[in-house]
Amino acid sequence: MSKLWGGRFTKKTDQLVEEYTASIMFDKEMAEEDIQGSLAHVTMLGKQGILSDDDVDKIKDGLHRVLQRIKRNDIEFTIGDEDIHMNIEKSLIDDVGSVGGKLHTGRSRNDQVATDMHLWLRKRVVEFVDMLHKLQFALVEQAKANTDTILPGYTHLQRAQPILFAHHLMAYVSMIGRDIERLQDSYKRINVLPLGAGALAGTTFPIDRHFVAEQLKFDAVYENSLDAVSDRDFILEFLSHASIIMMHLSRLSEELIMWSSTEFNFVELDDAFCTGSSIMPQKKNPDVPELVRGKTGRVYGNLFGLLTVLKSLPLAYNKDMQEDKEGMFDTVATLQGALQLFAPMIATMKVNKEQMRKAVNQDFSNATDIADFLVGKGMPFRQAHEVIGKTVLYCIEQNKYLLDLTLDEFKQFSKLFDDSIYAILQPEQVVNARNVYGGTGKAQVEAAIGRADEALAQT
Ligand code: ARG
Repeated sequence: MSKLWGGRFTKKTDQLVEEYTASIMFDKEMAEEDIQGSLAHVTMLGKQGILSDDDVDKIKDGLHRVLQRIKRNDIEFTIGDEDIHMNIEKSLIDDVGSVGGKLHTGRSRNDQVATDMHLWLRKRVVEFVDMLHKLQFALVEQAKANTDTILPGYTHLQRAQPILFAHHLMAYVSMIGRDIERLQDSYKRINVLPLGAGALAGTTFPIDRHFVAEQLKFDAVYENSLDAVSDRDFILEFLSHASIIMMHLSRLSEELIMWSSTEFNFVELDDAFCTGSSIMPQKKNPDVPELVRGKTGRVYGNLFGLLTVLKSLPLAYNKDMQEDKEGMFDTVATLQGALQLFAPMIATMKVNKEQMRKAVNQDFSNATDIADFLVGKGMPFRQAHEVIGKTVLYCIEQNKYLLDLTLDEFKQFSKLFDDSIYAILQPEQVVNARNVYGGTGKAQVEAAIGRADEALAQT
């Protein structure tokens, strides 16, 4: 079969070269977007009088038929036609005859492929915003059920200060909120039309790029034709935002894995989200969060892959840029997989409130609060820190916790202690004392949940 660009050639392409240079195996993913772009382009060619209305109608009808056939899986794409753009153009010409050859007037595959990718990605970004809202919703609902659940908060993975489990979950709601903002902000830069840039310099035909943009619902057109065909920063931005989302999911995954261990036993993931061992009958493995944590690696890899592909490319288009697609498709699929499972996994997770509480009763995470008590009595904080440090050391030697000490024992360390400290040391009191905006005090956490609820209701 002859090539769409065969005129200048006297020899057949080497079979291995065809296979090596083709992208149809993966860019067929953008078939719909390619036709969507072509329909807008050909409509514009008609409006501008570049093609006759009759030709435009034939081409449009043909494109619609090709699309239907692709959807029915009724077109066999071939490596000989290299990529989705030429495969579709070939199918169009097969369908409508030589008039199909007029579609590519005033256009290049370089501005065409960039347009396809903008169309493809903007649709996914909208879907991701929705999926992230669903995850926020699941986290907020779990938070609502846990506004009285106290667990140790950690720094250095050492028990630090008790916090509400709801507060911990709401931290992720905030992170995901920024992930959503980042995606929404990037939409501005994705929703820009490259078409009309031609191969690199524009075109001699009197096209109307703004009309094409309007039809495809792009908010703007690329200002510079070289830029339009040769940058892929909109993909890099997405890959980077996706990496940050995966990093957030991976941190939560790590916590879920830890919390599901017998050592912590803070949560139990629903059976539907776990798998067993082929040899050890007792095992229930948290495979889903483990794989989310693992797959974060490939999402980072796709970001670094494309950054590296682009780093030394001279303007404008280079074939290297064909390497932009597989990583993007893979990141989209990986992120979809993770987000699809995460929301229901959080929603069905069982929280072992008693176990969390037991952990809090057996630690020194209330130590800061008696230091603060001494400060309230006039002692400089640094000195109070030292006094309580000694008190804790005494407890460890005596195999006791702070609440087990008698007032006489406390008074050995400072005369300022009185029996009001027993109330101050209660975990509820320790938590609720942090009644500062953004803190773990119950009133603050409930307010944060209220704000999140309100924001989610508007989505
Ligand atoms: N398949 C190509 C890609 O993905 C389309 C653009 C080809 N342009 C060219 N001048 N060879 O990059």
